[in-house]
Amino acid sequence: MAVIEINHPLIEHKMTMLRSVDTDTKSFRENLNEIAKLMTYEATKNLKLDTIEVTTPLMKTQAYTLQDKLAIVPILRAGLGMVDGILDLVPTAKVGHIGVYRNEETLEPVYYYCKLPTDIQSRKVILVDPMLATGGSAIYAIDYLKEQGVEDIIFMCLVAAPEGIAKLLNKHPHVPIYTAKIDQGLNENGYIYPGLGDCGDRIFGTK
Ligand code: PRP
Ligand code: URA
Repeated sequence: MAVIEINHPLIEHKMTMLRSVDTDTKSFRENLNEIAKLMTYEATKNLKLDTIEVTTPLMKTQAYTLQDKLAIVPILRAGLGMVDGILDLVPTAKVGHIGVYRNEETLEPVYYYCKLPTDIQSRKVILVDPMLATGGSAIYAIDYLKEQGVEDIIFMCLVAAPEGIAKLLNKHPHVPIYTAKIDQGLNENGYIYPGLGDCGDRIFGTK
């Protein structure tokens, strides 16, 4: 399946704001949501449509409505920073939450919470997390969603390391990965470089 790096001047500009160590929490949050919104336009390009008849002030005509029902599932915490931007474009989507953090020593994912819409199996899920580093957290979340019967998943992140992309594609080859940037790699602590640092801490101002 595909890895799609979404190239757009507005995303480039806003990514620069996110990368800069001088960007404050408020601007970081705003730019993150704006990028998520711009990415959603591209990531929803292949949604299925139903054909309906609509009456305009002049005549009846054929028109289209969304057939796919969507759910947005952020990986806590940092994924929360993308939800509002996506909801701006697909306000009828339901929102589930999956809590997974990365053990700082082992870099292994640690599960702590999940709450999903009851009809999640019939929805197309946009799983979101700004950072795809080793890939452990995203793989864990996709495994979990598949165990709940979810079949149609796309993964959306802002910055992806080649290592995480390779691991995710190997484990879940049918899940498309939409990313704003493919960075150079991971450092010795498992951080993406050049990256943007610890995304959760930067969104919530916790460090
Ligand atoms: C970050 C990020 C991803 C994960 C990526 O979360 O938001 O969930 O690390 O790393 P991986 O690909 O190696 O698994 P973190 O563990 O810092 O938790 P937080 O969002 O609560 O800050
Ligand atoms: N999580 C982050 O927030 N940043 C990284 O670079 C890697 C994992």
